[in-house]
Amino acid sequence: MANGAGFWPARGPGGGNQPGAEQLFSVRLVVNGASRNVSVPARRLLSDCIRHDLRLTGTHVGCEHGVCGACTVLLDGAPVRSCLMLAVTADGAAITTVEGLARPDGTLSAVQQAFADCHGLQCGFCTPGFLTTITAALAAKPDPTPDEAREIIGGNLCRCTGYQNIVRAVLRAAELLRAGEHGRERSAAPHAGRADPGQGEAGRADPGQADPGQAHPGQGEAAS
Ligand code: FES
Ligand code: FES
Repeated sequence: MANGAGFWPARGPGGGNQPGAEQLFSVRLVVNGASRNVSVPARRLLSDCIRHDLRLTGTHVGCEHGVCGACTVLLDGAPVRSCLMLAVTADGAAITTVEGLARPDGTLSAVQQAFADCHGLQCGFCTPGFLTTITAALAAKPDPTPDEAREIIGGNLCRCTGYQNIVRAVLRAAELLRAGEHGRERSAAPHAGRADPGQGEAGRADPGQADPGQAHPGQGEAAS
């Protein structure tokens, strides 16, 4: 959707909506470990909220129909298609986007590292959805068979790779996790704490967010 930030009319003086303006709702989220508040119309998709209101363009939008999986993020640790959710329904949730997968020092997560090792991406458009999907799946099932690896990615579409290297990346990521090099990622939700009503406003340093200047699988600018 092209409804970017600034498109929606602001509230009028005194906090009321101007005549004809769309009513805005306050939504409190924990995004990649940081507390964030946004004001959005009831019909704002979570995917648009993430990309336009939160400015996290690593989450990609392909089909907007729940088919391609490019928009997948972790909601309280579980993968969801953010194009199928309204932002207001995520109020109080913890969301992990692709920007929150790497360690605070910028070290790639096991799944990101595996994609780099196995050449699991080409244009990268689909990659954020694969990375979040696989991260959650391996937390639940750390030792998948090749068939199970194919099943894990069965709901995500890629037009470039032919999938073989992505299957290899799933198995490689499982290896890395089992070897303990990325043991902390066994948790399904790297940033799964629910929003704390007492927590601060947006703009806090995000401990889970990788350096945007670094080349990370799934976070390439060209694919945003
Ligand atoms: S953009 Fe959400 S599933 Fe395709
Ligand atoms: S790498 Fe291009 S769509 Fe998957």
